[in-house]
Amino acid sequence: MRRKPVERLIAEGGQGEGGRLRRSLSMWQLTMISIGATLGTGIFVVLGEAVPKAGPAVVISFVIAGLTALFSALSYAELAGTIPVSGSSYSYAYATMGELIAWICGWCLILEYGVSVAAVAVGWGQYLNELLSGTIGLTIPGWMANPPGQGGYLNIPALLVVLLAMGFLLGGAKESARANTIMVVVKIASLILFCAVAFTGIRAGNYKPFMPLGLGGVSAAGASLFFSYIGFDAASTAGEEAKNPKRDMPRAIMLSLLIVTVLYCLVALVAVGAMPWKNFGNADAALAQIMKDVTGQSFWSVLLAAGAVIAIASVVLTVMYGQTRILFSMSRDGLVPKLFAKVSPRSGTPVANTVIVSLFCGVLAAVVPLGALADATSIGTLFAFSLVNAAVIVLRRTRPDMPRSFKVAFSPITPAIGFALCLWMMGSFETITWEYFGGWMIVGVVLYFAYGMRRSQLAQEESRAARLEK
Ligand code: ALA
Repeated sequence: MRRKPVERLIAEGGQGEGGRLRRSLSMWQLTMISIGATLGTGIFVVLGEAVPKAGPAVVISFVIAGLTALFSALSYAELAGTIPVSGSSYSYAYATMGELIAWICGWCLILEYGVSVAAVAVGWGQYLNELLSGTIGLTIPGWMANPPGQGGYLNIPALLVVLLAMGFLLGGAKESARANTIMVVVKIASLILFCAVAFTGIRAGNYKPFMPLGLGGVSAAGASLFFSYIGFDAASTAGEEAKNPKRDMPRAIMLSLLIVTVLYCLVALVAVGAMPWKNFGNADAALAQIMKDVTGQSFWSVLLAAGAVIAIASVVLTVMYGQTRILFSMSRDGLVPKLFAKVSPRSGTPVANTVIVSLFCGVLAAVVPLGALADATSIGTLFAFSLVNAAVIVLRRTRPDMPRSFKVAFSPITPAIGFALCLWMMGSFETITWEYFGGWMIVGVVLYFAYGMRRSQLAQEESRAARLEK
């Protein structure tokens, strides 16, 4: 139940073992980090898997998932403006609900960030294949492009993109943010291009029947598509590297969610209008397929595949960035080994942390299939989001006096709705996803009692103080 005072969380900001993180990110770059982490496999790949569940009403599924994200985004914006550190919801939970919940939250963030990088990297491989076969007629052999159990040994492309991102991250946050900004511009442009081209192929008949599989289908698709919104909170892991975090982080979070939601709804509307919903089940890289069908030329689909390859690479980069910064915060608090908070004085980045996270994500991406990873990611994220909504309510009660650069309107009703929406959406997942999630949580709790509880910085200070008193 130990809580970390907000003032202390903020005062420690930036300080690692042997060096400091550098404050170099502007509001624009923070927004790009959030969009960078969000727009990727969800829209380019998972959309194709969700349409067979909901039919053309997948557009509504996007709206439902977007609403769930919106309520939580408001809560994120309030807390990011009040506690501008790098630990995101982990740190908010530490300040409000105590160390055990904070640890559980951090553990779920590993699902949201670390495991999702692997899922996203797998989606990258699909578009890379599309791109290579469209340009130089090369198809990556199945044995090196699929995980075991799906016709392969290792997913090498997925591993490759993770290692590439590691290279950028080791170069520094500013350099990574610059590369990310370029990639984000390219991905937004590719989706706008998709809408323009696919628009010409819309057939009104494709929208009928609009909801062939009923409301159940729409909500199941919504739960899968929630994955596509994950990442809008990535700016909240940059609190210690932002130039003006209190002002810029809430803005970046809200702005990125707005841009992404509008793009998603447009893309979904055009996609189901241009291709009969039943055909989605057979298409691997659905959006590229639509471009090919509509224009009759593979040039456009190759262009889109190139956009997707860049798009998804930027998700890998920014989400991995987020994971390293969350572990950085947890390590400074003593809940994970100190190595994760070691900052290189030369590049101002946590080097060992970055390498370990990259290897973990790379290996996972190489051996596990996308579907299983995506759902596990979503359920963990929803749990972390529900805690953020709860943290807003708690902090308003315990510290009503704190200056807040952004305030959620109608609190506690709005965060309470956000909390309920997260739980409701968690309920839409299949039993197998719950089993994975349950297993993950049990491991997390055991690790806390075996390691974190004793090594925690606060615990050590408490026992030192107790010894002095004696
Ligand atoms: N939202 C991220 C994506 O769609 C995880 O790739």
